[in-house]
Amino acid sequence: MNNDFKDILLGRRSVKVYDKNVKISNEELLKMIEEATSAPSSVNFQPWKFVVVNTEEGKKKLRPHVTFNTEQNDTSSAMIVVLADLKPQKSAEKIYDKAVEKGYMSKEVKEKLFPMYTKMYDSFSKKQMIEVVKIDASLASMQLMLVARSHGYATNAIGGFDSEGVLNMLGLSKNEYCTVMLISIGKAAKEGRPSVRRDVRDIVTFL
Ligand SMILES: Cc1cc2nc3c(=O)[nH]c(=O)nc-3n(C[C@H](O)[C@H](O)[C@H](O)COP(=O)(O)O)c2cc1C
Repeated sequence: MNNDFKDILLGRRSVKVYDKNVKISNEELLKMIEEATSAPSSVNFQPWKFVVVNTEEGKKKLRPHVTFNTEQNDTSSAMIVVLADLKPQKSAEKIYDKAVEKGYMSKEVKEKLFPMYTKMYDSFSKKQMIEVVKIDASLASMQLMLVARSHGYATNAIGGFDSEGVLNMLGLSKNEYCTVMLISIGKAAKEGRPSVRRDVRDIVTFL
């Protein structure tokens, strides 16, 4: 385990080639996703969903949909499909109930807030909903990439894939879920190339 935050943050590189012999246990994958989902989310609705593709059969099914990202698919320990629920309000009440149960929120507050937030989410257009839930799931995705490094693994965020193909492959309707990204994860076999960033003074203004 690496607990050096600066090293985790600044040493992350997109890794495309992994050691095929390294398997990550389902328990460790669950642990990493659990840690990653400590991410904040809009009204704490946590719309993220993850499909871990870590069997030969699953990888084979995913392969035709990953366009130019086949090397990551073929060599990683797992390809994680990050999805977002387009109706998170339908299953969010149990989150609020859990907060009440744990004493983090009073029942009165829950009974005031939850219907209010549900009404707000019910009023979103599909476009607005996609925007909201993609932000939430992207925050968890970023955390997952950093958590992976703390566990000694490398990742690559992948946007180059056929979203509709992936949803079909998973048997999910595009009215219920949207894809956010794929994340390949494994032990690096070839280090990622360093990359440059814009000068901070070119991207920041103070008002
Ligand atoms: C949303 C998103 C989509 C990306 N899609 C791909 C991709 O399809 N294939 C790929 O090899 N890298 C992909 N990348 C990785 C970027 O190319 C990489 O993050 C960028 O060049 C900076 O390099 P670094 O991650 O090593 O710092 C993606 C990154 C993000 C955040």
